Amino acid sequence: MRVVAVMNYKGGVGKTTLTANLGAVAASRGLRVLLLDLDPQTNLTFSFFSIDDWHERLADNRTIKQWYGAEMPGRDIPLPQLVVSPERVNDVLYGTGGRLDLISSHLGLIDIDLELAALLGGTTTLDGSKRRFLDLHGCLRQALEDSFFAEYDLVLIDCAPNFGLVTKTAIVASERILVPAKADYLSTLGLDYLVGNCTGLVQQFNDFVHHKGGGREHEPIEPDFLGVVFTMVQIYSQQLTAAQHRYFEEVQANSQVPVLKSHIRNSTKHFGDAGESGVPAMLRTTGRDEVVREFDELADEVLGALSLSGNRR
Ligand SMILES: Nc1ncnc2c1ncn2[C@@H]1O[C@H](COP(=O)(O)OP(=O)(O)OP(=O)(O)O)[C@@H](O)[C@H]1O
Ligand SMILES: [Mg+2]
Repeated sequence: MRVVAVMNYKGGVGKTTLTANLGAVAASRGLRVLLLDLDPQTNLTFSFFSIDDWHERLADNRTIKQWYGAEMPGRDIPLPQLVVSPERVNDVLYGTGGRLDLISSHLGLIDIDLELAALLGGTTTLDGSKRRFLDLHGCLRQALEDSFFAEYDLVLIDCAPNFGLVTKTAIVASERILVPAKADYLSTLGLDYLVGNCTGLVQQFNDFVHHKGGGREHEPIEPDFLGVVFTMVQIYSQQLTAAQHRYFEEVQANSQVPVLKSHIRNSTKHFGDAGESGVPAMLRTTGRDEVVREFDELADEVLGALSLSGNRR
């Protein structure tokens, strides 16, 4: 099982669209994929379930909010109990051997994130607070170690555009970090800050693990940046615009995060709706158009980096 966090502080850069479609393409290649929606906006969840369905079947007792919302995450409800199989997308995947499952988010997760952060301060001894830091930040990582999750090839985590405690648990749980970004100044501005914050978190976590007694239940972590993938790229006459090309090169030259070879173009035709159909665009599009080809290339690159082979369509 490989765990990848999809994150960027910048909102609206295509994280959720990329998570849903990359997950769908990986599943269509015969892989068993679990998507984990950690954003209180709940957009990934609503790409697979209608709002009515979510209210009826999930909202009260089967979302990640109930899991993080316990006194210590997972104390009230085990993570495997939250896994659901969205029907419409799995109907489309029938016959591929692949599967796409989901852990749903909840709009109320925003309050839980703040409450969790408050728990960090709740101990009186230095050793106690280190222990609490590790238990809180390492909670998702520990939960994903349950043998239930070993049946998945790939877990993709859609993070909120912030560096709150819930996002930090995703970083600690992940082996790789994928960073969608638009090729413009504001979207790439935060990249080095993101790297700095992730590095700081990893250092602190590992320091505490190595501190005497700290590492009994926690192992050191080593999440690695898979790379930046440019999304909503403007293509005219089959070419990148000169400005975007410059940006790709600039980020490649100056950022500490590698830039992936593949990118995803801007296409309101494919990504313009709000996901009402319950099936990501890449599984709805008939024929191999340019966007399908780009997502296939991205899947080749990402799955290749994770040493996950699937059956290419
Ligand atoms: N390649 C694309 N071409 C055109 N529109 C896109 C593309 N990718 C995403 N979009 C649209 O852009 C908007 C933002 O995308 P998305 O929700 O995936 O971003 P996000 O980074 O997850 O946002 P947030 O930070 O709010 O979670 C959505 O309306 C989505 O449909
Ligand atoms: Mg999103």
